[in-house]
Amino acid sequence: MSLFIKKPLAQLMAQSDDSTKGLKRTLGAANLVALGVGAIIGAGLFVRTAWAASEAAGPAVTISFVVAAIGCAFAGLCYAEFASMIPIAGSAYTYAYATLGEFLAWVIGWALILEYALASATVSIAWSEYLNNLLGGAIPYQLCHSPLETSVDGIQGIINLPAVGILVILTLLLIKGTQESAFVNAIIVFLKVAIVLIFIFVGWKFINPSNHVPFMIPEGTPGHEAFRQHGFGGILGGAAIVFFAFIGFDAVSTAAQEAKNPKRDMPIGILGSLFFCTILYILFSYVLTGVAPWQDFAVAGKEASVAYAIQHYMPGYDWLATLVSIAILAGFSSVILVMLMGQSRVFYSMSVDGLMPKLFSELHPKFRTPYKSNMLLFVFVGLFAAFVPGSMAGDLTSFGTLFAFVLVCAGVWVMRVKNPEAVRPFATPMVPLVPILGMLVCSTLIFSLDPNTQLVALGWMLFGLVIYFVYGKAHSNLRKNSGA
Ligand code: ALA
Repeated sequence: MSLFIKKPLAQLMAQSDDSTKGLKRTLGAANLVALGVGAIIGAGLFVRTAWAASEAAGPAVTISFVVAAIGCAFAGLCYAEFASMIPIAGSAYTYAYATLGEFLAWVIGWALILEYALASATVSIAWSEYLNNLLGGAIPYQLCHSPLETSVDGIQGIINLPAVGILVILTLLLIKGTQESAFVNAIIVFLKVAIVLIFIFVGWKFINPSNHVPFMIPEGTPGHEAFRQHGFGGILGGAAIVFFAFIGFDAVSTAAQEAKNPKRDMPIGILGSLFFCTILYILFSYVLTGVAPWQDFAVAGKEASVAYAIQHYMPGYDWLATLVSIAILAGFSSVILVMLMGQSRVFYSMSVDGLMPKLFSELHPKFRTPYKSNMLLFVFVGLFAAFVPGSMAGDLTSFGTLFAFVLVCAGVWVMRVKNPEAVRPFATPMVPLVPILGMLVCSTLIFSLDPNTQLVALGWMLFGLVIYFVYGKAHSNLRKNSGA
């Protein structure tokens, strides 16, 4: 039997309708947009904006956000078609199973682990840093850093306890139920959007127009010799860095099986949250690079850059710096929450299909959540959070996401050719142009990643292939049922 055995659409739809046995349908359009915004605004905006400005784009980081958003929008339009057509849990993995076949579906599912699980780890590590910052460095260095990190005074980290702590809390919240988690998420989303808006409005008065001139980093600037570090190339380099800030809008699609009216609400959830965040990001980065010169972000303002800009260039607004830090902690929590949820849902689908062990799809008798999967995921993500530096996990997250985006774009195109008659409540416009542009932009960003990241990611993917051939292929329900 072919590696490219496909799950028939009808079977997927039956799975989707079988909601009494499956996950509870509790999320409306507003919940889904909140879920998306909850996943999107996080370390990417509050940490990577300043990094992209100082490393590559200068004040033109605002344009970098537009470039990254264009790539995400193409992929988002493809996601929306699939999410409205195949409204069941599992996201890109599920879509690929129907279009590209089991083998590529596995490859995507494996890549999504890089995205969701490692993003949770990365952001929980950033959460730990901000907590310590807010407490004035009260947590001993050893207890909030990985053993692979050493302070400037030569102290070596042992374990990152706050990162593990936030993961425990959020895992318990997820086990208790999606509805409750979505409610808490909505409060946090409100708080972090409010803080972003306050920073934009208050900071606007403190913009020093000379900080925006020149708008791009000029050629010949010391330390910015490479193509991706100045001028138009710098805008691309910056886009690769701030791409992380958009990761998460696709997480909405992983909740399709819990949406009340997926056909209408999924496209609203995915594209709505993407559009909303893009506007905020452009304004935010314009104000940030206007308030503080981008050169500062390479040195003193490298960490906690937003608080730094307020403290140094907005006299009288120290309270805002504290509020921003608190909102960042809350904001990071909601990102971790959605990422953990997305990952457990992908595992759920892979397990229902027999490609992963059954325990990943066992639901809690009362809460109807995949609690065993949540607990195992906590162990996996917790190990990363406790013992690995955040930077290592961050770039791998981007790889996994971009890779999944490319295959989703391809999947929409393949499906249009192979199943032209299928009902599409939301149709991606201008196929195949939009999928092709999505594949092009996302592949360009993959190739803009650091070569070491590409190598490690390749290792991870090869490891995934071994697992597939040793376990997944032999246990696939689709193969068993088709007698393969
Ligand atoms: N987009 C998420 C963030 O910025 C992953 O933290």
